[in-house]
Amino acid sequence: MGLENTNDVLMKSTVFENFESNVRSYCRKYPVIFAKAKGSLLIDQNGNEFIDFLCGAGSCNYGHNNDYIKDKVIEYLQNDGLIHGLDMYTIPKGEFIECLQNTILIPRGYDYKVLFPGPTGTNAVEAALKIARKVKGRSNILALMGGFHGMSLGALSLTADRFAREGAGVVLGNVTHVPHPATMKDFDTIAYIDLILTDDHSGVDKPAAIILESVQGEGGINIVSNEWLKAIRALCDKHDMLLILDEIQSGCGRTGSFFSFERAGIKPDIVVMAKSIGGIGMPCAITLVKPEYDVLAPGEHNGTFRGFQLSFVAGKAALEYLLAENVEAETVRKGKIVNEFLAANLPKIASDITYRGLGLMWGIDFGKYPPAIAQKIRCICYDNNVILELCGREDTVVKLLPPLTIDDAMLNKGLEVVRKAIIQALSTN
Ligand SMILES: Cc1ncc(COP(=O)(O)O)c(C=O)c1O
Repeated sequence: MGLENTNDVLMKSTVFENFESNVRSYCRKYPVIFAKAKGSLLIDQNGNEFIDFLCGAGSCNYGHNNDYIKDKVIEYLQNDGLIHGLDMYTIPKGEFIECLQNTILIPRGYDYKVLFPGPTGTNAVEAALKIARKVKGRSNILALMGGFHGMSLGALSLTADRFAREGAGVVLGNVTHVPHPATMKDFDTIAYIDLILTDDHSGVDKPAAIILESVQGEGGINIVSNEWLKAIRALCDKHDMLLILDEIQSGCGRTGSFFSFERAGIKPDIVVMAKSIGGIGMPCAITLVKPEYDVLAPGEHNGTFRGFQLSFVAGKAALEYLLAENVEAETVRKGKIVNEFLAANLPKIASDITYRGLGLMWGIDFGKYPPAIAQKIRCICYDNNVILELCGREDTVVKLLPPLTIDDAMLNKGLEVVRKAIIQALSTN
């Protein structure tokens, strides 16, 4: 698919370099100017196509401009549907809530109220923190080392990355970080958490909640096991704290089930979602809360953009699409393709490259190499028209996050570019 450029003059990146804030980041890694996107392809203004293994950081699980979802949005716009609705009752919002309840939550045995916290993931986390602290009357929250939960102050206090935290400019408090079981393999993290909560001389204030990602995205694709998830649920009950699952990156089918924690059969008290809950990259976030913890008074968590109707239209269409097209089962199947590809190829390249993943959320770990290697791999992939991002400590994990709708041929094509990039980066080391 090519792009016919209808402009006489192509846009120059100087408009961004001269006038956009220094804080811009992704664009520095992929310095072309994007114009279009379809399915698993990003297309720049010159018509160059890039296989998208970044996927809007997990916001475009169902593919760019997914026809089913896009048509619903176009139809709604053409009928002059309300676009901005504050948090008033509207048809799209009602239909979105009904669809989420009837097709996902109720059939899977989850009893949650839906709170609209604002358009981004960090908003959903802020609301979850307020709820937990109000329910338990305590300020401390436990979070896992390596976790990423957003960049607004409350969420940032949970986010572990030092660079991100230093940007706050204030002391970030009321959070205790505990080791992640996957990054501390010889350490019994459950026993440790139990100890710091039981020992009245541990120096750790009794928490209101623990928040975690069942698969850490920015932290380096660190997966907690089903057993660990069950154990942390039991520990929350034992120590009277809420369990908050951050599904912002790992949710919406990404790991092969709508929620990434379904595999453990647990029921969190609060679930935060964003990114692909908005269907095709529309801004939307939700905080799901067990009815008994739905304690915020009317307006206690308010905000103007909690009712962008196009997100609800697209979000409902995305749920319909997920079920109709068996996206979850397809994600499991494609996850096996990735797993088999990595298992067949990485050991032949070097024995100290490790990899891990679930569904279509994978990380190739170059932690045994200088950080420049992973950077080089990302650059070579970009030069060969595959866009992907790095994550983990010192950005040493190459993250593969293709759209769940990617076809097998394009998935394999992208993987092959990654394979060659690894060989090239290591051979010029
Ligand atoms: C797990 C997780 N939580 C929270 C966030 C924050 O979401 P947002 O960037 O929409 O504020 C992110 C973003 O990458 C995330 O991956």
